[in-house]
Amino acid sequence: MFYNLVSSRQSDRAFLPKGIEDEKLQRILASAQLAPSACNAQPWHFVVVNETDKRLQIADAMASKVLAMNHFTKQAPVQIVVVEEKANISSSFGSWAKSKHFPHIDIGIVASHICLAAADEGLGTCMIGWFDEKKIKNILSIPDDKRVLLVIVMGYSAQETRPKKRKKLNEIVSYNSYKK
Ligand SMILES: Cc1cc2nc3c(=O)[nH]c(=O)nc-3n(C[C@H](O)[C@H](O)[C@H](O)COP(=O)(O)O)c2cc1C
Repeated sequence: MFYNLVSSRQSDRAFLPKGIEDEKLQRILASAQLAPSACNAQPWHFVVVNETDKRLQIADAMASKVLAMNHFTKQAPVQIVVVEEKANISSSFGSWAKSKHFPHIDIGIVASHICLAAADEGLGTCMIGWFDEKKIKNILSIPDDKRVLLVIVMGYSAQETRPKKRKKLNEIVSYNSYKK
C-alpha cells in the first residue's frame, strides 16, 4: 500500500554486497519514465552506473573528507546519475514567465518516483546532492553545459527501518490562510 511504502522508504547509508536484478532495475526505470513534468517536457537523462571501476570513481566524487560525508556510497552496487536536459519550448517559456525553473521541480519528482519504486522492490536508496559535479561529468562523458542535479545510490539495504524525524503536521500545514 502507498502509505506503507512512503513510511518504509528512507535514505539508506549501508548496503549489502549484492547486485540488483536487472528486471527490478528496469521496472524502477520505467516508473521514472512515467513521472509527471511541466508541459510533459521530461527534462532528464539517467546514466545508470553499475561497472565497478566507474561506480567507485563516482563514489569518490561524492565523498567529502572534510565533512565526512557520503563515503558509504561506494557500497551501493548501482548509481543513477540524474542529468538535467533542456526542457521543451512550453516549459521553458513557463519557467521564464513565472520565474521558476520547472526542470528542478520535475527532477525532484522523478527522483521520488525512483526511490519509491525501489522501495517497492525491496531496495534501499539514498539521494545524493553533495558531489563534485565536474568530476562526475568527466567520468561519464557528460557535456560541460549540462547539469548533474542528483545521484541516486541503490542496493539492498543493510539498515533497519528507522522512525522518521519530521516536523509536526500542524507546523507545516495551515487551512484557508497562511499561518506559521
Ligand atoms: C536533494 C537531496 C539531496 C540529498 N543529499 C544527500 C547527500 O548528499 N548525502 C546524504 O547522505 N543524504 C542526502 N540526502 C538525504 C536526506 O538527508 C534525507 O532524505 C533526509 O534526511 C530525510 O531522511 P529520510 O530520507 O531517511 O527520510 C539528500 C536528500 C535530498 C532530497
